[in-house]
Amino acid sequence: MLRFHYILTTLAATVSLATAMTLESELHYALPADFPKALLQTDCYMPLNFSVIGLELWLPGPNNTNNFTADFQYIDLGTKITTSCHRNATSPNVGGEGHAERWACDVPTVEFIWQEGTLTVIEKTCTANFEAAGSVEPRFNCASTAAPWWPSGDGLFCKALDEQMNGNFTSLQPPPPAKFVA
Ligand SMILES: *[C@@H]1O[C@H](CO)[C@@H](O)[C@H](O)[C@H]1NC(C)=O
Ligand SMILES: *[C@@H]1O[C@H](CO)[C@@H](O)[C@H](O)[C@H]1NC(C)=O
Ligand SMILES: *[C@@H]1O[C@H](CO)[C@@H](O)[C@H](O)[C@H]1NC(C)=O
Ligand SMILES: *[C@@H]1O[C@H](CO)[C@@H](O)[C@H](O)[C@H]1NC(C)=O
Ligand SMILES: *[C@@H]1O[C@H](CO)[C@@H](O)[C@H](O)[C@H]1NC(C)=O
Repeated sequence: MLRFHYILTTLAATVSLATAMTLESELHYALPADFPKALLQTDCYMPLNFSVIGLELWLPGPNNTNNFTADFQYIDLGTKITTSCHRNATSPNVGGEGHAERWACDVPTVEFIWQEGTLTVIEKTCTANFEAAGSVEPRFNCASTAAPWWPSGDGLFCKALDEQMNGNFTSLQPPPPAKFVA
């Protein structure tokens, strides 16, 4: 009985070690020379791929000064992150001055950028000095909106045609440097 318990424990430990590691050869990006590779042998699961679920956007019409809005669910099964992501009138831009506007998801190790038809997601890695990025180019079904029934006025409300979109992380870089204003 004792021996059986021991085998089970060993098995469980092996499985959890296997899921904690990412094979470098599986990644769709090269590890930068200064990435501490020893971390790959530990509890550090490098972001490999992700899913974006239920993406909805509202885009302001040409003369509408309201900000675009975005909502989706984000899942990375590898790093075990599941979070909601939103951008709305009250969302702070976390991109930093002089960089692309970024929006933080509810789990703030995940951020996103919406630019010209591309949704880029960014996930901080186990070492805060590096972040992985990957993108999807959704196909949309859109409908016009207008005040007063649409509070933010004229624009387009768009739902992704694919309820779930999968993407691979294709870059690993240091986060963009913060700019300090003297
Ligand atoms: C936007 O405003 C300009 C200038 O007021 C006007 O000429 C144009 O027709 C407006 N466009 C739309 C889509 O309302
Ligand atoms: C749009 O978002 C920016 C932050 O990116 C904010 O400063 C601005 O007040 C927002 N504008 C409106 C009309 O909500
Ligand atoms: C607006 O966006 C923030 C994240 O920036 C989110 O916490 C909040 O729930 C959003 N509000 C709505 C109504 O979706
Ligand atoms: C992520 O990659 C793993 C391993 O190759 C694969 O089993 C899984 O289906 C992929 N998931 C997504 C969302 O692409
Ligand atoms: C992600 O990478 C896997 C393995 O290389 C590939 O089969 C899959 O098509 C890629 N997914 C996307 C969305 O590019």
